[in-house]
Amino acid sequence: MHTVVRMKLLLVLLMLDCMCASADVWEFFGPKLRSRRRSLENENAVHDYVKDLTKKYDYPLEVHKVISRQGYILTLHRLPFGRKSNATKRARPSVLLHLGMFGSPECFLFRGPQHDLPYILADAGYDMWILNNRGSTYSKAHVNLNPERDKTFWDFSFHEQGVYDLPQIIDYVLNLTRQKDLFFIGYSMGATIGHVMCSTRPEYNAKIRHFVNFAPVTDTVHILPPSYNIVFSVFPEFVKSLRAQNITELFPRRALAGNILRSLCQNGSSMQSICVASIFLIVGVDYKQFNPELFPHIFRYFPDGSSLKTAEHFIQIMSTGIFREYDYGTTGNRIMYGSDAPPKYNLSQVTAATSIYYGAGDIISTKADCEYLAKKLPNAMGLFKIPYHHFNHMDFMWATNVRQLLYDPLVNLLNKYK
Ligand SMILES: *[C@@H]1O[C@H](CO)[C@@H](O)[C@H](O)[C@H]1NC(C)=O
Ligand SMILES: *[C@@H]1O[C@H](CO)[C@@H](O)[C@H](O)[C@H]1NC(C)=O
Ligand SMILES: *[C@@H]1O[C@H](CO)[C@@H](O)[C@H](O)[C@H]1NC(C)=O
Ligand SMILES: *[C@@H]1O[C@H](CO)[C@@H](O)[C@H](O)[C@H]1NC(C)=O
Ligand SMILES: *[C@@H]1O[C@H](CO)[C@@H](O)[C@H](O)[C@H]1NC(C)=O
Repeated sequence: MHTVVRMKLLLVLLMLDCMCASADVWEFFGPKLRSRRRSLENENAVHDYVKDLTKKYDYPLEVHKVISRQGYILTLHRLPFGRKSNATKRARPSVLLHLGMFGSPECFLFRGPQHDLPYILADAGYDMWILNNRGSTYSKAHVNLNPERDKTFWDFSFHEQGVYDLPQIIDYVLNLTRQKDLFFIGYSMGATIGHVMCSTRPEYNAKIRHFVNFAPVTDTVHILPPSYNIVFSVFPEFVKSLRAQNITELFPRRALAGNILRSLCQNGSSMQSICVASIFLIVGVDYKQFNPELFPHIFRYFPDGSSLKTAEHFIQIMSTGIFREYDYGTTGNRIMYGSDAPPKYNLSQVTAATSIYYGAGDIISTKADCEYLAKKLPNAMGLFKIPYHHFNHMDFMWATNVRQLLYDPLVNLLNKYK
């Protein structure tokens, strides 16, 4: 694509993203929209679509809350069994799916049992758990911090999620199900968090029967596309301006922002092709596996909130290429870590059995990155290229043929270790 076109698309994307990032942007559109905003305030309250979807598709749902050691109230959604297989007397091995950044459980539930992984695994005899990231819609609560008012609520990245949240969640599930280990599936940042946990809390390797990586982000060895370099060059200014406005939460799920994106990108809209192209700039180009008719659903559930610090940490990793702790700058690092540079995550400590799935069209987690990771991991059992040449970063959720390409082979893999 021509660079100027790329730049324009990127600007549109940044604009759309900023609209989600700040509620105040609506003031800009004047009183008409403001009153509309007021009328939509109820809609902005968290509506539990997970309940709606599982009910619609007739699957059992349990909602579990776990209070983390740092006081965050985290939500787990559980499908304890499927539609076909509730009568099984045999123990059902637990599978924990860790969502990626800006992901919500609905992203993996809205298309239904023919397409979505949790239903497929529940029907295949697994006890299915989905972990909601700190700061996303269903995990945006704390025992004494208010996410809307207290900036310290948002002072975390995937590091804290890996060191504190995930280990505690695993203990919770194992205790409740009386099992000694579980299957862990990490998608994108979910995989990153798995590696943070296994390298910093190595005793948890024994609690993972198999660690499945979907498009993991750790060390970045590939050359990033120009669109990323543009993002990296404007990012520090972007962060500064958000911090100046006291914005530390990124892309919270908001009904109004979602509705605007939905109408911009819906069928028949002249903007639809720009929506598609903008997303492909970030995740890799794959026209064949992406159905734009999904847009009205997607923007109801995505993006879901995260912290600005998480985005900063990722950009640090992707721009330096090194999978290591958050960089506070030399002075800050000396105070935090006692060294000029942040410590690296030691992947030799990730002794759990691992499998890695990558998409050849993914520009975030590439073949080269995944090969590098597989070489670093002491117990890598498999490195799998998804057998479709353009498979990109979001195809792991929404590819038209994701079931045949990825989920069915995954069920076979898990069955092997069951
Ligand atoms: C399991 O399914 C049977 C019908 O197949 C139903 O009668 C029973 O109530 C179900 N059990 C649970 C716990 O939902
Ligand atoms: C383990 O589960 C039991 C109930 O099954 C509960 O009473 C207990 O507090 C749990 N322990 C931990 C450490 O979560
Ligand atoms: C940001 O927060 C600080 C204190 O927490 C306050 O003094 C300042 O006025 C706030 N800035 C804006 C733009 O709201
Ligand atoms: C959207 O557009 C495509 C062709 O452009 C059409 O085949 C499809 O039926 C439309 N879907 C809806 C829901 O209108
Ligand atoms: C990383 O872990 C391995 C295995 O425990 C150990 O031998 C090595 O010294 C560690 N490396 C660093 C830099 O700590």
